[in-house]
Amino acid sequence: MAVLSLFAVFLALFVSPLPCHDVPGYQKPVMVQQTGKVLPKPQTMTASTEAYALAMPSFKFTYGSSSEMCDIVDQAFQRYYDLIFDIDGLRKAPVASKDMSELNTLQVMVKEPCTGVYPSLESSENYTLTVAAPMGTLVADSAWGVLRGLETFSQLVYRTDNGMMLINKTTIDDFPRFAHRGILLDTSRHFIPLKYIKQNLDAMAYNKFNVFHWHIVDDQSFPYQSVVFPDLSAKGAFNPYTHLYTQDDIKDVIEYSRLRGIRVVPEFDTPGHTASWGAGLPGFLTPCYDGTTPNGKYYAANPIRNTTYDMMTKLLKEVKDVFPDKYVHLGGDEVNFNCWKSNPDITKFMETMGFGTDYSKLEQYYIKNILDISTSIGRNYIVWQEVLDNGVQDKSTVGEVWFEHPTIQAVLERLTAKGYRTLLSAGWYLNHDVYNPGTDWSTFYKLDPQVFNGTQEQKDLVIGGEACMWGEYVDGTNLIARLWPRASAVAERLWSAKDVTSMADAAVRIDEQRCRMVRRGLNAEPLHPGFCQFEYD
Ligand SMILES: *[C@@H]1O[C@H](CO)[C@@H](O)[C@H](O)[C@H]1NC(C)=O
Ligand SMILES: *[C@@H]1O[C@H](CO)[C@@H](O)[C@H](O)[C@H]1NC(C)=O
Ligand SMILES: *[C@@H]1O[C@H](CO)[C@@H](O)[C@H](O)[C@H]1NC(C)=O
Ligand SMILES: *[C@@H]1O[C@H](CO)[C@@H](O)[C@H](O)[C@H]1NC(C)=O
Repeated sequence: MAVLSLFAVFLALFVSPLPCHDVPGYQKPVMVQQTGKVLPKPQTMTASTEAYALAMPSFKFTYGSSSEMCDIVDQAFQRYYDLIFDIDGLRKAPVASKDMSELNTLQVMVKEPCTGVYPSLESSENYTLTVAAPMGTLVADSAWGVLRGLETFSQLVYRTDNGMMLINKTTIDDFPRFAHRGILLDTSRHFIPLKYIKQNLDAMAYNKFNVFHWHIVDDQSFPYQSVVFPDLSAKGAFNPYTHLYTQDDIKDVIEYSRLRGIRVVPEFDTPGHTASWGAGLPGFLTPCYDGTTPNGKYYAANPIRNTTYDMMTKLLKEVKDVFPDKYVHLGGDEVNFNCWKSNPDITKFMETMGFGTDYSKLEQYYIKNILDISTSIGRNYIVWQEVLDNGVQDKSTVGEVWFEHPTIQAVLERLTAKGYRTLLSAGWYLNHDVYNPGTDWSTFYKLDPQVFNGTQEQKDLVIGGEACMWGEYVDGTNLIARLWPRASAVAERLWSAKDVTSMADAAVRIDEQRCRMVRRGLNAEPLHPGFCQFEYD
């Protein structure tokens, strides 16, 4: 009897339609198929439905006879061969094609010497890819263009149910819309182990991002191990043995990035956001006062002591030697003036300098000194938007927009009207505590960094943008899942043509890209109920 009624309940639940099918917001499960769609969508692409089989196992990447050769391209050949054929990841052993034309070679031509080079803001990433049996060609000025083209090639490959690897006849002419396409990781609020930093660099390469903005230190911790000031991490890291980036770690990250065409731009944010510097760098922070006596608290770099600038000069010189990129990020955001106001020595300094009671003048004085130090040691700099709103400084500065004051568009208009090159990150804070993984990517996707009131000249000053993953609630356990594939929406906005705006088309690309990342071993999270055709996820 009991068995019978259980069976009845079973029937009622699973054989009749579930009542929740009718609730608003119900999403039908989707099987995400592989068809060889490319994300970010290439600038121009002529695809056909003529499919070739990849010759297996004889398929190979080769250099053309007059091509330059280098380790960047050699290693990319190996990586992409493994990614395409990922034999271990196949459920079925691939089978040979029957009665189909085979693609047996992709011949690569690099025009510029590429041994030992680093990517830069000015690098060319253009490439031309022609897939035609029996031999395809990939032509680029630089190794960076080859990397982007190999990624595209790997995405064009898809599998059939019976295990064949196919690629359609295709011609692609491709180049990025913006030169600076970044991801910001914050390794101060939480330490992020190297393993996950590298996974993220892989994901960046799969999505054609080219700048790792490393917000390496902040109030909470100082994990960068400095040679000139070893106490900074010894006393400022969460754990000076385990939660630390040594000089070797940093070299490792920079080389891993270089081989993927990714610049590493470190950020040493001052004068605010420096609480973790205090213990390891005595005298650097400003003592705060209650009346005429210090209250034992410290806040922000002390702008009135010459030694502050001596310390910053030493540190930034080291940073210059460690990080090869021409740019360093110098922060400059969110300075609270209360501690400076409480300090009688600063009050005296304000009088001497004729700043009156305008503490933003003191802030400008500090920032100007830091920017001058950076210039004198040969580094260009990026700063957060406040620095430019405060009227500092020369036109080589790049300003990064991070908050809506009063709107994103108004800030873009304001900064570019002053003639500054500008990066957009407001609107692309993917860490936000309340997030909707299924839908919020569409908001990121719709934001166009060149849609604001301004002249063409102003719009040309926007050099790109960054998706940001601030670390308050993010560490190695959830970094990859929270970023991907949501950041793929930003990737496409920054790479593809301005008129690539169809949400329906983008949804299909981002789905396949998510399954592709899962296949490649990344914990990219799902965007809706359903499953990937070939992946266990
Ligand atoms: C490749 O060709 C097949 C048919 O052979 C077609 O179904 C598929 O949509 C094509 N893929 C692309 C990306 O055009
Ligand atoms: C890349 O291609 C675009 C479009 O053809 C062109 O405007 C741009 O100058 C090229 N960039 C380089 C560095 O060749
Ligand atoms: C700090 O530097 C300024 C400018 O170089 C100089 O005029 C001043 O005397 C210095 N102050 C101290 C206390 O060394
Ligand atoms: C552009 O300017 C017009 C007219 O002043 C205004 O109505 C509109 O909101 C502005 N658009 C943006 C994106 O700021």
